[in-house]
Amino acid sequence: MNKRQFLKTNLSLLGALVTAPMLGWAKNWTWAGPVPASPEDPFSLPALDYAFNALEPFIDEKTMMIHHGKHHAAYVKNLNAAIQGTPFAGKTLEEILAMVTDKEPAIRNNGGGHYNHSLFWKILTPKKGTQPSAECTQAITQEFGGMPQLKEKLLNAAKAVFGSGWAWLAVDAKGKLFVSSTPNQDNPLMTNLAALKGTPILGIDVWEHAYYLKYQNLRADYLEAVWNVLNWEEISSRYKSALPKKPGTFDLWPMLGAFHKVMSETFHPMEEGDLQPIKTRSGEMAQRAGEVASSPIPAPFNTPDIAATVKRLKKDSKALDKLVKKQGTDEQIKSSLTALHDVFHSIVGLCRDENH
Ligand SMILES: [Fe+2]
Repeated sequence: MNKRQFLKTNLSLLGALVTAPMLGWAKNWTWAGPVPASPEDPFSLPALDYAFNALEPFIDEKTMMIHHGKHHAAYVKNLNAAIQGTPFAGKTLEEILAMVTDKEPAIRNNGGGHYNHSLFWKILTPKKGTQPSAECTQAITQEFGGMPQLKEKLLNAAKAVFGSGWAWLAVDAKGKLFVSSTPNQDNPLMTNLAALKGTPILGIDVWEHAYYLKYQNLRADYLEAVWNVLNWEEISSRYKSALPKKPGTFDLWPMLGAFHKVMSETFHPMEEGDLQPIKTRSGEMAQRAGEVASSPIPAPFNTPDIAATVKRLKKDSKALDKLVKKQGTDEQIKSSLTALHDVFHSIVGLCRDENH
């Protein structure tokens, strides 16, 4: 951004925020970029993916401008100030939320405010008719009975918030969906504060600042309106990311992981033409293969196919070691290591088979 663009961006932002209430709100006014934070500020106000008037008639332009440009901006500014010189400095926003307690009200309120609003802007969209993914739909059906039931439960949770707060659809540590609400700017990531803990994938702001200009005291009407502008593609993608990671083969079978380490540190150099690693580590590789063969095969992988292939891994590793020790030719060593690499990969392939 050159100086002229910088001035234009910032003067237009400043102008809109300061003079708009006096001069009336410019129609179709879009915001050119995030409010520039000073370089040492860790957090900054994220830009919206759509224009302030894009969610009309469900959420009005003026509410969006004030909500984003004033309220959210204030949470960001206050969060940056609140963490300075505290153990929270240098942490990610998620780490801050996981650490914060009721002893740090400024970090609790402004950290929550920044996270919650950043999520809120993302799960709203002017795009009509977005649909949840198949796996998200399945989880909603399993947990709530279907989308109409989820809507009822979530909007009831939002209506029941006393004063200011948020209603959530979130994923718990086991990957199960739940609906909850929190007061003020708390959220389910605040492990020291939230009654129900998890990763929020959909949050509905039920502070009056989110709806009062258009809906006044009619919170239920605002909630019905918000339901029309939810971005189910974004919510589904957040659902997928929030699911607990399945353990990989080597987490479940550390002996095979130890073999893999030696294999990868000898096979790849060989591919580059360097046989030194396999010539010096063939004994170690045979030993690791022996350990894989003599330890029990973890239950999810214990099939006759895998048991037979493990035996072959041990036998072929021993043969390769013998070949190295009796100073076989480079061609013989290469071909033996390549074949062993294939055997190893057939075990990993069998472990990853959907049937296991
Ligand atoms: Fe808000």
